[in-house]
Amino acid sequence: MISVPGYEMGGILFSAEQIHERVRELGQQISEDYRGQSITVVGILKGSFVFMADLIREIDADVTVDFMEVSSYGNATKSSGNVKIKKDLDSSPAGRNILIVEDIIDSGNTLKYLRDTYLAGKGPASVRIVTLLDKPSRRTADVQVDYTGFQIEDLFVIGYGLDYAQQFRQLPYIAYLEESEQDVL
Ligand code: IMP
Ligand code: MG
Repeated sequence: MISVPGYEMGGILFSAEQIHERVRELGQQISEDYRGQSITVVGILKGSFVFMADLIREIDADVTVDFMEVSSYGNATKSSGNVKIKKDLDSSPAGRNILIVEDIIDSGNTLKYLRDTYLAGKGPASVRIVTLLDKPSRRTADVQVDYTGFQIEDLFVIGYGLDYAQQFRQLPYIAYLEESEQDVL
């Protein structure tokens, strides 16, 4: 099923059930921390949309949603360190409690820029970050992450919103790719 030139399916890291359980825990934690407050949940497109859809249904608070799209990767598996805003927020973040939802934090460049430079300059009441996955071993930017689903090794992962060259976002589980000797498997 997984056929990408130069890559093969390495294995499943987290099943749909494991993800669901963890997302429920994150939702409960967030609900407690923001008790009595409203949250603007900002999904970073495209990778976060599956996680965000599940997460907001586990949050017991006054929630509005917005989206941003930034580019830093192209179709490669390594970060370029360049952050470009392709789609901005529809509503002003001024005075709002912003909860940024990411699929995965790798170098941290994207979130460092979004939180500490871009959003910080627009007067939000608060900015927190929730990420489903974190690869701490690859961090180069000093960015504080408030909620993390799972920490993982330095693997390239796909599924549950995460892509390789825009493919595999629909997989209900998270798997990793391995470089392959053969061209197509
Ligand atoms: P950072 O700026 O290096 O932290 O890049 C984070 C972004 O890179 C994520 O939002 C993903 O879009 C992408 N990314 C990083 N690692 C992976 C991966 O293993 N699979 C899929 N996308 C990834
Ligand atoms: Mg992303």
